[in-house]
Amino acid sequence: MQTVRARGISKYFGDVVALDGVDLDVAPGQIHGLVGPNGAGKTTLLGLLLGLAAADEGTLEILGAPAPAAPGGVAGFVDGPGLYPSLTARQNLAALARLRGRDARTAGIDDVLGQVGLTDVADDRVRGFSLGMRQRLGLAAALLTAPRLLVLDEPSNGLDPAGKKHVHTVLHRLADEGTTVVLSSHRMDDLEALCAEVTILATGRVVFSGPLGKLAAESRELEYRLRTPDPDAARGIAAGTPGLHLCDDAARHAGDALVVRAPVPALDDLVARLVRAGIAVRELAPVVSPLEAAFLALTEHQESSR
Ligand SMILES: Nc1ncnc2c1ncn2[C@@H]1O[C@H](COP(=O)(O)OP(=O)(O)OP(=O)(O)O)[C@@H](O)[C@H]1O
Ligand SMILES: [Mg+2]
Repeated sequence: MQTVRARGISKYFGDVVALDGVDLDVAPGQIHGLVGPNGAGKTTLLGLLLGLAAADEGTLEILGAPAPAAPGGVAGFVDGPGLYPSLTARQNLAALARLRGRDARTAGIDDVLGQVGLTDVADDRVRGFSLGMRQRLGLAAALLTAPRLLVLDEPSNGLDPAGKKHVHTVLHRLADEGTTVVLSSHRMDDLEALCAEVTILATGRVVFSGPLGKLAAESRELEYRLRTPDPDAARGIAAGTPGLHLCDDAARHAGDALVVRAPVPALDDLVARLVRAGIAVRELAPVVSPLEAAFLALTEHQESSR
């Protein structure tokens, strides 16, 4: 049984097609990332998983039953967590626990505050919390319910490196324990650190869904930045290397670096030629990560085909 199984989901806001025939499968214990340009439909899709709205078309099953999921099975937030500003972090969690009929003293509040790294500010009013602290408190609130599916909209938004580490650790541990996580992010590094599988949305449609490794492998020829002590000689050698294209517009030709586009075998050839000519290679690296390149290629194609 999949934790999430969506088939042909569409969602309209007036004339706007927010989701257009979306399929999604997420297996138990997976951390699945949603990525896509602004307005692609990520928040809309996460809202459907949380039961905040219903799809106009298609079928959506969560935890083996038609959406919306039964209370307690799913937790999370979109567009920032709902919190009481005049209460402290601890009081917010206690209020939530009581709303759900639990005894605030035994609900595990200190534990979840510790997990997200908010122990030191547990008794501060949420009014004074930064964006990153609110995000972490929202995650703590979701953890209180021990959900089987956790849904988070841009959970890394506003997090400092320490906060991010807390959140990543918590999400990996939850997934290890069998909780399924679906999250959105604009950060490729986050997705690479967290998710085995991603779904890329562009203008409401799925343009890729599957393992991250497959996405990088599908990416086209990449652009690489080459730095050598002798850029003029290196340029001449690059120009004479078969299968390699010099991207020599002035904007990207900064200092001793030049940009080339090539498949990997042509790059190998270039490095061999440079070394044979006695030119050292200081750096040869993708201009953007393979994942980001694949993302840009897939979403640009979608925009231009509309
Ligand atoms: N409540 C709403 N009323 C009208 N239009 C909406 C509503 N919610 C979303 N939309 C529209 O649906 C589309 C998808 O929006 P959504 O918020 O899901 O995108 P997103 O991928 O989360 O974008 P972002 O990266 O900016 O958060 C957009 O065109 C948006 O304007
Ligand atoms: Mg959004």
